[in-house]
Amino acid sequence: MSKFYITTPIYYPNARPHVGSAYTTIACDAIARYKRMCGYDVAFLTGTDEHGEKLQRAADEAGVPVEQFVAEKRELFQALWQKLRIREYRFVHTSQNPAHVKSVQWMIRQANQAGYIYKKRYEGRYCIFDERYLSDSAEPVNCDICGRPAELISEENYFFKLSAFQERLLAHYKDHPEFVQPDFRMNEVKSFVQSGLRDISISRKRLKWGIPWPDDPEQVVYVWYDALTSYLTGIGFEGERRSADFEKYWPADLHMIGKDILRFHAVYWPAFLWAAGLPLPKTIFAHGWIYYEQDKMSKSKGNVVYPEPIIQAFEEFGAPGSDALRYYLLRDTPFGLDGSFSYEGLIQRYNSDLANDLGNLANRTVTMIRDYVHGSVPQPPGAAVSAKVPWLRESLKALLHEFRQQVDSYDVFRALGRVSAIVGDLNGYLNESKPWAIAASIGSSPYSAADSGVRQAGEEPRLASESRVGGDQLVNECLYVTADALRCIAVLDFAFIPEGSHRLWEQLGCEGNIEDQRLDDLKWGGLRSGTKVGKPEPIFPRLDKQKALARLRELAQEDRLDEERAKETRVESQPVEKPAVAPGAAPEAPAPKITLEDFAKVDLRAGTIRSAEPIPGATKLLKLQVDLGSEVRQVCAGLAGYYKPEELVGMKVVVVANLQPRKLRGVESNGMIVAASVEPTGRPVLVTFQQDVPNGTRLK
Ligand code: MSP
Repeated sequence: MSKFYITTPIYYPNARPHVGSAYTTIACDAIARYKRMCGYDVAFLTGTDEHGEKLQRAADEAGVPVEQFVAEKRELFQALWQKLRIREYRFVHTSQNPAHVKSVQWMIRQANQAGYIYKKRYEGRYCIFDERYLSDSAEPVNCDICGRPAELISEENYFFKLSAFQERLLAHYKDHPEFVQPDFRMNEVKSFVQSGLRDISISRKRLKWGIPWPDDPEQVVYVWYDALTSYLTGIGFEGERRSADFEKYWPADLHMIGKDILRFHAVYWPAFLWAAGLPLPKTIFAHGWIYYEQDKMSKSKGNVVYPEPIIQAFEEFGAPGSDALRYYLLRDTPFGLDGSFSYEGLIQRYNSDLANDLGNLANRTVTMIRDYVHGSVPQPPGAAVSAKVPWLRESLKALLHEFRQQVDSYDVFRALGRVSAIVGDLNGYLNESKPWAIAASIGSSPYSAADSGVRQAGEEPRLASESRVGGDQLVNECLYVTADALRCIAVLDFAFIPEGSHRLWEQLGCEGNIEDQRLDDLKWGGLRSGTKVGKPEPIFPRLDKQKALARLRELAQEDRLDEERAKETRVESQPVEKPAVAPGAAPEAPAPKITLEDFAKVDLRAGTIRSAEPIPGATKLLKLQVDLGSEVRQVCAGLAGYYKPEELVGMKVVVVANLQPRKLRGVESNGMIVAASVEPTGRPVLVTFQQDVPNGTRLK
């Protein structure tokens, strides 16, 4: 059996996943499902990229230990994949993963032994948001991907001799034009490499949150060296030790990525692999970005689209929400180009392709089989009655072939377009043949056509004079042809819209599981006559555009508010995140060991609370003015409900004095009051002194 190894990028778990992260994962899930149905032994990898300064800062801002922060966020990704029906994947995470440490350190050692690594002082600009080096000079510069100002880095680092690979890369692109897709992306990569490659820094000194550099504990490995190596770890690579899975699946057949991270994959990654003596992946496909109504999604603009409220809104209307989103993302934008998300567009696409076309075809067909032929798929006549049938048969044959060609070249947009076109043809065929009219005219049904609800308004039975035999044959042909074509369509669509396709398969009464179907066996005429169809329930009910739009917007807004509230609750409850020792509960696990140097970074000071007052709208927060000797600091603390403001005034407390300032409920907070948190509620008990000490005294 041939193998197929496909990967998504591993995502930064600095925030919850949005529709952009979902886009790559949905595309990969669809391709993985499709390849399984083509008979491949598929490994599908996704995961989270957890090291680096970006993650460290996000955790600091949330006031949570970074290990806990990434573990919590990682779960959000897995929960979303579940909702989006992403299936049969392996999940790799880069932090707290001993196998991955071995992989990365092995890669570095190999490159070092091969002479591709050297040490030098680096001074330049670095974008923390995109974790990339931007220039080798101190000159201020903005990142060309995210537009943020880059930070100055000045330290001694390990360097990778990327320049040594320039010619080899160009030769590889020439010999393997399929290496980077689509073609226009290959051209971008080539011209970047032709313009000259510079060596790159692959370690960081100031940072602790990373994989230790082998034999140099002062440095950690650059997060991209670490992240790319996860493609190996995820299938059982641990440096010298390699699993049978790794031997089977590597090299990857497809790294699916967004256009912004192409250079890391098409230039750095092959060089890192060559430096370690490992074979290269076969193809890197860079898709475009999903914008929100043409605009880049960003938290500050408040236009980030999250999948959960979309799925919920559709489900409230009885529609398969994950299918609606999956279909919209893959069918609305040519795969490889940028796309624009809009709620109107989502409803429009769902209503036109899934509700009006496919859903209606399925509903009409199953209803007519139930009503006209006692619920069993009829025997088609030996020779075609309608002239359109041979043409439809040829179209379906061509579809089965072209669909595979298109998905094999990752043109999922056109493949879905082909399916949609044939659904249109079949609806046209039914409309022209009007089996409901024939059935009514020959009385072949236990029900009348009018009862069945399938006759179109104002329609007269067209073939009233048709002989009973000819009429029966036409009805049988129509119903067999559409039901059989729908069976094929369900199988083709399953990779893309699994929920609806599965229901369609069941309604048609097909034997076996849809996921076990093989595309090689899919042929016209495969539906067994006599198959009992199920109850004709609408699979893709049509949505009222205005109502659906209003509900989608409402749920998206609620979701945003919930997120803000959750963030505030977390912030308000500091410093009492978790009970230190809840009575009757197991004590909290000890935090990882730190050095004295680490501890010395925390500036703890004695201070006297001069005033305390509630903050309007905040249930837990109090605004305190704390006298630190040389200054009076404003600090917001989650003490309301536990301490009365007047009880606090005059109390001597311990303040973390060098925390980054932050706004809580719009009020600036410049530090944190230290407290033990007790009982399951996390009730704060303030830390104070046994003897009086002057304000501003440092605690060591
Ligand atoms: N951690 C790196 C990848 C390391 S892979 C060894 C990273 N992570 S990311 O979370 O920032 O982005 C992950 C993927 O999501 C990228 O492919 C990126 O292009 C994609 N997207 C993020 N926002 C997107 C859109 N708005 N639209 C489409 N894809 C987008 O980069």
